Amino acid sequence: MSLTNTPDPEERAKVVKQDLDSVLHPIVQHKMLEQNNIVVTGAQGSTIVDQNGSTYLDAMAGLWCVNIGYGRIELAQIAAEQMERIAYYPHTAINLPAAELGEQINNLMGGGYHTYFVNSGSEANEAGFKIARQYAKHEYPGQFKFKTISRYFAYHGTTLATLAAGGMGDRKTKFEPYAGEFVHVPAPTCYRCPLGLTSDSCGGACANLIEAAIIGEGPSTVAEVIVEPIMSGVGVAVPPPEYLPRVEAICRKYDVLLHVDEVINGFGRTGKMFGHQHYGISPDIMAVAKGIVSAYLPIAATVVKNKVFESFLGEAADERQVMQVNTYGGHPVSAAVAVRNIEIMLEEALPQRAAEMGAYLMGNLKDKLMKHGICGEVRGKGLLIGIELVTDRESKVQLDGKLMAGILAFCKQNGVIVGRSGGGARHSNTIVLSPPLIITRTECDTLVDVLDKALADAEAKMKGK
Ligand SMILES: Cc1ncc(COP(=O)(O)O)c(C=O)c1O
Repeated sequence: MSLTNTPDPEERAKVVKQDLDSVLHPIVQHKMLEQNNIVVTGAQGSTIVDQNGSTYLDAMAGLWCVNIGYGRIELAQIAAEQMERIAYYPHTAINLPAAELGEQINNLMGGGYHTYFVNSGSEANEAGFKIARQYAKHEYPGQFKFKTISRYFAYHGTTLATLAAGGMGDRKTKFEPYAGEFVHVPAPTCYRCPLGLTSDSCGGACANLIEAAIIGEGPSTVAEVIVEPIMSGVGVAVPPPEYLPRVEAICRKYDVLLHVDEVINGFGRTGKMFGHQHYGISPDIMAVAKGIVSAYLPIAATVVKNKVFESFLGEAADERQVMQVNTYGGHPVSAAVAVRNIEIMLEEALPQRAAEMGAYLMGNLKDKLMKHGICGEVRGKGLLIGIELVTDRESKVQLDGKLMAGILAFCKQNGVIVGRSGGGARHSNTIVLSPPLIITRTECDTLVDVLDKALADAEAKMKGK
């Protein structure tokens, strides 16, 4: 698909009516779609195009996922070729693309892992919870290790169990109550440290809250700890360097599995292939999605260390097999596209590119945006960046929702799509950036320029000018 598009207002109006009359959209209010919608008809690189001919620099790579950028036509050819060969067969049998993808992921992890395929990040985490529980049933028969320790403000998916594991108030409350097997502790949100410390000297002290929770719940009841290495949805919370190694040591001390959510962090986003690799830790369970296939098709995976995998081996009578199945797991067409997606990432050194371009973008954002009093902090790793906005730096009071929405609208009017953190009033005051890893310097400059003007506009509105 290219960026050329013949605007057709009549056809566009027809599609919008057709959609609004019959489609229920996620997370956006329908009234907003009536007033202000995008009808995507094409995309190339980091740019999407509306049916009316408008183009937008997509600084969110869709939903933090189109890592290799839009418009890679060769992936369409690979999908077509695989469909011609065999489009589908259940993963109770072996298929070539899924076997190759499993090997690729194992190589990226440095060996020692097996991969269970699912369709979305939520399912990948959900399968992780279940694998942790089944593992505990095999390995600790006298104990009842079933709980997951998680963090407030985390996002791990949209199913009931992943919502229960997560800690984003506004995403959770409509579906309460949840079962009590997910226990929460404060997260390393360093700009607003839960312990009142500073990240340059705290030594990752909030990891100790995880130990306190394990002791409090009883180690014989805890199966795993789930962490997203750099928390994305809450506004890009980069932990202090000591935090994750400390979490890992605590997991080892209490025979608790370490489950890492790499759904956004993974596949180059943070400047390494996986986010946890910045911290030298070795997960027992890892959920991946999004960047695994740059969202060209749905596929995701739960990757388990061989110590976990081996617990699922035995004779048929032992009943140790993975006791779950999903129809589309290991889908050959999605897997074939994912294999090529990862090859492209390696050929074009996209994780390194994310590190370099991220440093360039973050440097410029700090230079330009910190001049505005409402810019509390610019933070991130690689091309995962958060810009936390406050009424003033001293009080750190969160910029109000109306001004935040105005900033997003200003950017859109000026041809740039940026994101906003979720998590309810206390954490939705951060602009988030997660562009395709192929974003160019010129596009980064445009992004900084538009954000600079958007913040100036918000400041003027705040002062009533
Ligand atoms: C960290 C994290 N985990 C899990 C998920 C769930 O992934 P999916 O939307 O593919 O179910 C998301 C989605 O954004 C996420 O950000």
